[in-house]
Amino acid sequence: MRYDIKDLSLAKKGELRIRWAEMDMPVLRKIRERFREEKPLKGVRIAACLHVTTETANLMRTLKDGGAEIALCASNPLSTQDDVAAALVKFDKIPVFAIKGEDNKIYYSHIISVLSINPQITMDDGADLVSVLHREEKKRLPNVVGGTEETTTGVIRLKNMAKNGVLAYPIIAVNDALTKHLFDNRYGTGQSTIDGILRATNRLICGSYFVVAGYGWCGRGVAMRARGMGAKVIVTEVDPIKALEAVMDGFEVMPMDKASKIGDIFCTLTGDINVITTKHMLSMKDGAILSNSGHFNVEIDIVGLKRISKSHKVVRDFVEEYTLKNGKKIYLLADGRLINLASAEGHPASVMDMSFANQALSVEYILKNKKALKKEVYTIPISLDREVARIKLKCLNISIDTLTEEQKKYLSQWEEGT
Ligand code: ADE
Repeated sequence: MRYDIKDLSLAKKGELRIRWAEMDMPVLRKIRERFREEKPLKGVRIAACLHVTTETANLMRTLKDGGAEIALCASNPLSTQDDVAAALVKFDKIPVFAIKGEDNKIYYSHIISVLSINPQITMDDGADLVSVLHREEKKRLPNVVGGTEETTTGVIRLKNMAKNGVLAYPIIAVNDALTKHLFDNRYGTGQSTIDGILRATNRLICGSYFVVAGYGWCGRGVAMRARGMGAKVIVTEVDPIKALEAVMDGFEVMPMDKASKIGDIFCTLTGDINVITTKHMLSMKDGAILSNSGHFNVEIDIVGLKRISKSHKVVRDFVEEYTLKNGKKIYLLADGRLINLASAEGHPASVMDMSFANQALSVEYILKNKKALKKEVYTIPISLDREVARIKLKCLNISIDTLTEEQKKYLSQWEEGT
């Protein structure tokens, strides 16, 4: 078996951590039990490009128990947990191609390695795998019956592909499931981003000006949690509706041109490029901290930061001090890569439980419906989404009310009013 990981001897540690995460993933565990019995993925080859974490390991085990043959690579050069990669190779015999800190060349060569299994299903987080498959590995496209996409950024890219008529097979946008983005993007990113900033800097959050760029589900989560820790939170937005929502949620809202002069800690979560530019950096306070929790490292103009700096050096793990030509210092975390996975461990298992339950069910759904699906980006059916929520509630020992027949009837009529 081919693989490329950092160190196989880390496998024992990885195994213990994978089991720790598994305890908090009851929905996925339930699906895994059913998959083990029914083998709905028997003989199906899946190429997965995901953050290689303890939670992802539990998803890989679920797919494998469902009968799939899997190869896994990282969806970001800095997000791999090397002990987890080792455990998957050693104990599950899954070919993993992922090393934390790999350069871009190795990152892309790992994607090519995973594609060499000739996948029938792709499972992506950010759409790099799908992009490489459509540009450089076209010969493998005829085998593919469908794919899944985990994140907002990837869904945007894939919808652009569908719009441009180049998407060669159907994709389920797992991100668009309610039981994914309402929990993973909001509470997962909210907690893990603060966790990443704290692990990297050990700075006191309370009393600081904390600038959140972007008020999508991820930005909402980070703003909420930063406020919970006592920060004075400023939100920047381009969408008037989201900006208004941030105002009414009680946050200061202003353009980055203004926020850049006030902030102590900045975090970008917009999914777009050059949100923090050199113009902003030059107006920042001495000692400002810059981080990103969006999918790609494009939100902070790092090339520009280097250009306006006279020197830079690493001062702590994941903290690089840039001394600007104007004499001020700026601290860039994790090279502008997603801070929650680079210096922390990503979202907690309890939310990834729902995200990855949706992943597993989406693969099963594609296989069952492959004849009917077109070369489009689909949302997972609401019935599956509700099923994930129902199981999660049950696992949390929470019961809810059900509609009476009278209430159902009332909701389906139009005649009765006041
Ligand atoms: N994305 C964010 N957090 C993650 C995690 N813990 N595992 C996999 N993907 C993630």
